[in-house]
Amino acid sequence: MARVLAVVLILALAAACAAPAARGGVTSTYRRSLQMLPDMPFDADVFRVPAGFNAPEQVHITLGDLTGRAMTVSWVTPKLPGSNVVRYGLRADNLTLAADGTVRRYTFGRNYRSGFIHHATLTDLDYATTYHYAVGFGYTVRSFSFTTPPKPGPDVPYKLGMIGDLGQTFHSNDTLTHYEASGANAVLFIGDLSYADTHPDHDNNRWDTWARFVERSVAYQPWIWTTGNHELDFAPELGETVPFKPFTNRYPTPFRASGSTRPLWYSVRMASAHVIVLASYASYGKYTPQWTWLQEELKRVDRTVTPWLIVCVHSPWYNSNDYHYMEGETMRVQFERWVVDAKADVVLAGHVHSYERTHRVSNVNYDISNGMATPVFNRSAPVYVNIGDGGNIEGLADKFRWPQPDYSAFREASFGHATLDIKNRTHAYYEWHRNHDGVKVVADHAWFTNRYWMPTDTN
Ligand SMILES: [Fe+2]
Repeated sequence: MARVLAVVLILALAAACAAPAARGGVTSTYRRSLQMLPDMPFDADVFRVPAGFNAPEQVHITLGDLTGRAMTVSWVTPKLPGSNVVRYGLRADNLTLAADGTVRRYTFGRNYRSGFIHHATLTDLDYATTYHYAVGFGYTVRSFSFTTPPKPGPDVPYKLGMIGDLGQTFHSNDTLTHYEASGANAVLFIGDLSYADTHPDHDNNRWDTWARFVERSVAYQPWIWTTGNHELDFAPELGETVPFKPFTNRYPTPFRASGSTRPLWYSVRMASAHVIVLASYASYGKYTPQWTWLQEELKRVDRTVTPWLIVCVHSPWYNSNDYHYMEGETMRVQFERWVVDAKADVVLAGHVHSYERTHRVSNVNYDISNGMATPVFNRSAPVYVNIGDGGNIEGLADKFRWPQPDYSAFREASFGHATLDIKNRTHAYYEWHRNHDGVKVVADHAWFTNRYWMPTDTN
């Protein structure tokens, strides 16, 4: 009898394994303190101004061209303009090359005037090469290093970090600390950087503290910037009517290299990934510059060179949290068909301050009257990852909608970050890390198979 039962059990298990993947999702039962934290105080360690007269601070880098053979270095000098020069080379004690940059200041509202903001682009770099660089000549010199991405190719491994809605609370510090232990090569930052606009008069000193806080990572590896609503800084009551003024003064993007006409939407190609950055808070309706650019950009995607197509956008197209529910819907309606036709692998979003990963679904057949409004499984559709859980001053979004929609694979209201470890043209290992655990504990993970090279029915 026991043997018969065992056989039945084995057969049942085999049947369960062979059945199509369940589309139902998991709402994590993990519960953490929902305590909302203020921003770290101005005298926090992580905001410390570097020693030395007019020492360069807030150093950060991003790609300076399409593929990483150029790198743009940015920094701020507080007292005097100083030198715009970046010296760089293959050895820290022998910086034989130099790039000349620009300097600017900007004002915001009645009381804020920025330090001297420098940008310089280092060109003609070799792929997959470590460069040492230094800034601050004339007064206090500080030195850093970075490694350029490998030359684009279909089986070039590369590990991308994914951080969104970071802010500058103690939770934000945890997120960055845990990210630093991940071993990733570059960050896809999904918007909402400093949350300066949550302070009176959009206190732009908080843009400065944020940049000093993240310098320990972004001075050493490129972060690819997507803009969020907290980058708008649209404040007519303060006389500030040009959206994105602090962001665009501080954070250059290589938009021209991909034929874009504004810094807010563009693409880069790193190793085996083609990354498209979209702007939720710039117009994207039919015939607008962003719409036109994306249409052309998707034609430029070559999966035989860069198999992994990743789209970054701030406001999610699929998310089952009450917070910001359906705010990304108009952009989904505008672009989802294109993204599915292009067989994008992942669409990354932030904005909602919790974590969620979807199954591969699309909702591209609905035409208002045909009743086909329910998202359905679609093997050409991307996985939607919501990573707006960096840990900012606004706290967690912990009110999920019930029942959990079929498209939602896993969701949890915790802070954290994710990584996508691309192995080759067919496989990439994705994981999400919850801050509360030790740095090696992973709360959600999945193998993604490439939608062009291996479009399996599961992940
Ligand atoms: Fe946001």
